[in-house]
Amino acid sequence: MADVVLDGVVMRYDGGHLALPRLDLHIRSGELCVLVGPSGCGKSTTLRLIAGLEQPSEGEIRIDGRRVNEVAPSDRDIAMVFQSYALYPHMTVRENLAFGLKMRKTPAAEIETRVREAAELLGISELLARTPKQLSGGQRQRVAMGRAIVRRPKVFLFDEPLSNLDAQLRGQVRREIGALCARLETTSVYVTHDQAEAMTLADRIVVMQGGVIQQVGTPLEIYDAPANVFVATFLGSPTMNLVSAELAGTELRAPGLAVGADLDRVRARGKVVVGIRPHHLAVGAPDGAGATLRGHVRDRELHGGEAFVHVEAECGTLLVRTEAHAAPAKGTSVGVTVDPGHLHLFDASTGLRLEAAA
Ligand SMILES: Nc1ncnc2c1ncn2[C@@H]1O[C@H](COP(=O)(O)OP(=O)(O)OP(=O)(O)O)[C@@H](O)[C@H]1O
Ligand SMILES: [Mg+2]
Repeated sequence: MADVVLDGVVMRYDGGHLALPRLDLHIRSGELCVLVGPSGCGKSTTLRLIAGLEQPSEGEIRIDGRRVNEVAPSDRDIAMVFQSYALYPHMTVRENLAFGLKMRKTPAAEIETRVREAAELLGISELLARTPKQLSGGQRQRVAMGRAIVRRPKVFLFDEPLSNLDAQLRGQVRREIGALCARLETTSVYVTHDQAEAMTLADRIVVMQGGVIQQVGTPLEIYDAPANVFVATFLGSPTMNLVSAELAGTELRAPGLAVGADLDRVRARGKVVVGIRPHHLAVGAPDGAGATLRGHVRDRELHGGEAFVHVEAECGTLLVRTEAHAAPAKGTSVGVTVDPGHLHLFDASTGLRLEAAA
């Protein structure tokens, strides 16, 4: 096992594009760390820097305490799994798995042992004599992982390894990767733009935007206390509602809305952005007791057992998650109840989370 440290890493591509203004990150030994963020935020760049496929413009990269800036990718003791499996089409699965070890002049008996173990671990022992074109997408992805496993590296690097798979298979292989990483106890860095993938897989998540780390934490830490508006809306599905409001005394006011909540905990006063997750809102009768605001249903999306109800209110359109059978029809006037215990407050000018008063 090994930890990976990026210390003041700056990445400026030829041509001047500043992909990473300055990145400091400590990936702990044995953890599955997921880098997540929108397209172009610098996830692959970060991974390729760790792999040694790119050179940082400034800063230091350390693997297991050793500076690796000058170390060639092949000598970094890492193994990478990409979106494109890059299997050798004319070789069998067995030959694909063995290839890297052969190149490193590993003794034949040792290769045989490692290939057999990896194949068993991945459930592909029956497929060793086939060529890649005789495999399904999920099976090919497993072979690609097998090629990484047989190397027994200090660090696994995954770059969107599941994007070529259909939704159902993606879920299955995702669970397999999670179980595998836990079992192998190898430090793993996993890149995805899919927040659900990050939430389900990660020991810790690193949320990135524009080459800058926005927050690092366990999935629940980040979900429960997003550091800013970007993180709040990026993680969680359906997306968190945002309402511009004013903090006055212990009351939160927006057009058509007044919530008297436990707001003493917040130091700041003045303009804020209130974040409310769709399952912390409830719809009922417009004159219902406890209704915090009124509006009408603009749209209703059914998703099997649950529904997303879009309520147009004076303070904006709010998304409410309800049980499908309880979802009011389009055009209905409704009352919306806000759960005051689950409000997220952000500074309106900086977008930063307002912390509880000490
Ligand atoms: N070889 C390159 N030369 C110049 N700019 C590059 C190069 N590779 C990436 N970039 C730029 O650096 C930024 C980060 O790219 P990167 O590939 O790391 O993003 P990403 O987060 O992996 O995105 P995606 O989810 O689309 O894969 C982008 O603006 C991209 O255009
Ligand atoms: Mg990428």
